Amino acid sequence: MNVTTLGQFIIEKQADFPYAKGELSRLLRDIAIAAKIVNREVTKAGLVDILGETGETNIQGELVKKLDVFANEQFIAALKAGGEVCGIASEENDDFIPIESEMSKGAKYVVAMDPLDGSSNIDVNVSVGTIFSIYRRLSLKGPATIEDFLQKGTEQVAAGYVIYGSSCMLVYTTGKGANGFTLDPSIGEFCLSHPNIQTPKNGKTYSINEGNYLHFPDGVKKYLKYCQEEDAATSRPYSSRYIGSGVADIHRNLITGGVYIYPTTTKNPSGKLRLLYECNPLAFVIEQAGGKATTGGKRIMELPITQLHQRTPLFIGSSEMVDKTMEFMKKYSLEKI
Ligand code: AHG
Ligand code: MN
Ligand code: MN
Repeated sequence: MNVTTLGQFIIEKQADFPYAKGELSRLLRDIAIAAKIVNREVTKAGLVDILGETGETNIQGELVKKLDVFANEQFIAALKAGGEVCGIASEENDDFIPIESEMSKGAKYVVAMDPLDGSSNIDVNVSVGTIFSIYRRLSLKGPATIEDFLQKGTEQVAAGYVIYGSSCMLVYTTGKGANGFTLDPSIGEFCLSHPNIQTPKNGKTYSINEGNYLHFPDGVKKYLKYCQEEDAATSRPYSSRYIGSGVADIHRNLITGGVYIYPTTTKNPSGKLRLLYECNPLAFVIEQAGGKATTGGKRIMELPITQLHQRTPLFIGSSEMVDKTMEFMKKYSLEKI
């Protein structure tokens, strides 16, 4: 069988970075280990109550924890044990976690992550994900400082996501294309299944929480009407698909073509999604696959960042579809972007 495992692939690609000494490779490996553990728990999430009743008390303490807390702990533990990071920022922690240990003394990187994306889908057997972003530290030594995290998306060294779906997939980029790996549970390895992913320039799918329609900027409202119009030449009306797990929605659109929008709303006047550990890493992957990611006006990866949990509107996906959303935003919502 001719398969390339994630481990082999990472080592082969290390040659693309002549200055690298293997730390980034090890860091990606640590992330993959945590992803496998989280996947194991996700696949038996519905068993929590059943296992509880059968008296499996040794692991029950872990299992009954909400999966987003569990995932957070697993990724933090794997990253700490790996010794390649001097700090971690997570959606689940108000502040970043500085790491000062013998192991991490020479650590060059920090990681920002959304350990479990799509929390509302955990209990109903629908795909969830993990998003991660890796930066080279700016501080010189010791544990990380806030400045290490407040870097523009263009400074990301690597980024990616894991999708715990009908199969478990890890997609990542180091800035030389985006590659996808599917977990083969029989051997416990992520295997290269989607080399050099290229997203279609155009698609027939739009993804947005339309329940918030009344609160959308006019540019988005008009764009949605455009998606729903009949026009054979552009294959409209488009289909609406919204899972509610950003990773899953954006992954589907990456593969088949489409646009995902989480705009400003009255409830979330700055948008809902977080720049550091949701939008920037997803933008990096999508751009590497030939797509685009903007606020409706500006490129996501060039946005200045002043806070760990800063929010932004997000328009992401096939390049021509994102361009079209920006045309509508420019025409009807200039003040919002
Ligand atoms: P998280 O579960 O990490 O808080 O993120 C959920 C995000 C994103 O994944 C999803 O697309 C979006 O929130 C869904 O929000 P709505 O329920 O407001 O549509
Ligand atoms: Mn999220
Ligand atoms: Mn989350």
